[in-house]
Amino acid sequence: MKMEKAIIPFGDHLLRKRSKPVSKFDEELSGLLDDLTNILYAAEGRAGLAAPQIGVLKRVIVMDCGSGKIELINPEILETSGEQMGPEACLSFPGYTGIVKRANYVKVKSQTRNQAEVLLEGEGFLARCFQHEIDHLNGVLYIDHIQDDELYDDHTRQQVNLREMLRLSGKK
Ligand code: CO
Repeated sequence: MKMEKAIIPFGDHLLRKRSKPVSKFDEELSGLLDDLTNILYAAEGRAGLAAPQIGVLKRVIVMDCGSGKIELINPEILETSGEQMGPEACLSFPGYTGIVKRANYVKVKSQTRNQAEVLLEGEGFLARCFQHEIDHLNGVLYIDHIQDDELYDDHTRQQVNLREMLRLSGKK
């Protein structure tokens, strides 16, 4: 029987691990991409989901930042430029929003599920998505980038103790 995959809880040490490159472009990879897709599209306020968020330490991401589904395998940021400051959230700890500084433009080298190499570019929100998701593959969370405690509870709109969140997230 196939185990149902789900988003692992905040604080799980796997969220802080570095994921391994994909070397086999096989059925298991297709299955992982399909699992990520299903979980992503079932989630509210979704933008992207990286494999480590479902407990699989592989360099695989599925994202949809408003312009359709993008599958990333072994993605690498080749170039960045500019700067943007804006709100960011994560399916691994829903209910919070942080203000995060990111590059405004990124160029990404990646692979498709058929092992083809592709070059992708993003600006604004799409660039933010690329950076957030690729961070997950390196055990980095958006709260690691927040300065001046700009993390908020979506319900109460109150500021959240960033240091405590970082501690709970297992940041060393
Ligand atoms: Co995230």
